[in-house]
Amino acid sequence: MMEITGNTRLYGIVADPVSQVKTPQTMRKVFDQRGTDGVLVPMHVSSENLPAFVQGLRSVLNFGGMIATVPHKTAMVDLCDDITPAARMVGAVNIVRRNSDGSLSGDILDGQGFVGGLRQHGIEPKSLRVFLGGAGGAAKAIAFALADAGVARLDLYNRTQAKAQDIIARLQAVYPMVAMAAVGASPVGYDLVINATSLGMRPEDPFPFDVSGLSADQTVAEIIMTPTLTPLLAVAQEKGCRIQFGLPMLECQIELMADFMGVAK
Ligand SMILES: NC(=O)c1ccc[n+]([C@@H]2O[C@H](COP(=O)([O-])OP(=O)(O)OC[C@H]3O[C@@H](n4cnc5c(N)ncnc54)[C@H](OP(=O)(O)O)[C@@H]3O)[C@@H](O)[C@H]2O)c1
Repeated sequence: MMEITGNTRLYGIVADPVSQVKTPQTMRKVFDQRGTDGVLVPMHVSSENLPAFVQGLRSVLNFGGMIATVPHKTAMVDLCDDITPAARMVGAVNIVRRNSDGSLSGDILDGQGFVGGLRQHGIEPKSLRVFLGGAGGAAKAIAFALADAGVARLDLYNRTQAKAQDIIARLQAVYPMVAMAAVGASPVGYDLVINATSLGMRPEDPFPFDVSGLSADQTVAEIIMTPTLTPLLAVAQEKGCRIQFGLPMLECQIELMADFMGVAK
């Protein structure tokens, strides 16, 4: 059992509500593996108080950084001193590092976590034809990471089509070599089919897109973590598709988050 002492470095996860988060336990394992004298604690902060809270952290000399989650990812963009191009394009920050001069740097790691999770399971996205369902915060980050990973084609399907078109317009400016379009609900003919909507958590949720044409030569990936086997993945499995669960995306991010906050390996 690690003991907190006067030398322990402090990290946080800021959210509202916060009681549901699992990161303090998960990051504990990373700190232990890396031999870090650190602790990551839940920080329950309302949107109204977020600016004052973040300002105060600049003066905490033993504060290493924090994870930002619902509903603070967008607001954090303007509260950091500098953010990565990915965070700027996505318009969200989910990890913040406090630098030694008290300045704050932000990044978004959802997309890198997703791509890292695929690679960990032997799926290389480079040159694949990809169908991505969703155009919310997570989908946006995944779209940028997939384009960066060199997919051959990236088509987006979303209930609100204008949001898919907006992502494509911004992506094409940076990755003109990737073919992209806002498409309908059928993922037929793609190598990799991804659900990046919030559909699949509740038993009454509809499928995020048309599953009738899924075939055994396709990989179907989820970002929903609970339940582990979503209705989408269950159907895909029945049809003989390769499936990728939602959890690896988070597991990969935890390591990337520790790296970003300067936790030594
Ligand atoms: N595995 C991980 O590490 C990880 C990381 C981040 C997030 N997530 C999960 O990913 C999910 C999405 O998160 P987010 O931050 O992207 O949420 P978000 O910004 O609220 O986006 C939600 C997306 O789902 C779509 N959607 C929601 N309800 C729908 C419905 N009834 N019919 C059709 N489409 C619907 C939305 O479409 P519209 O644009 O039309 O509203 C939008 O594309 C959440 O469940 C979150 O827990 C997982």
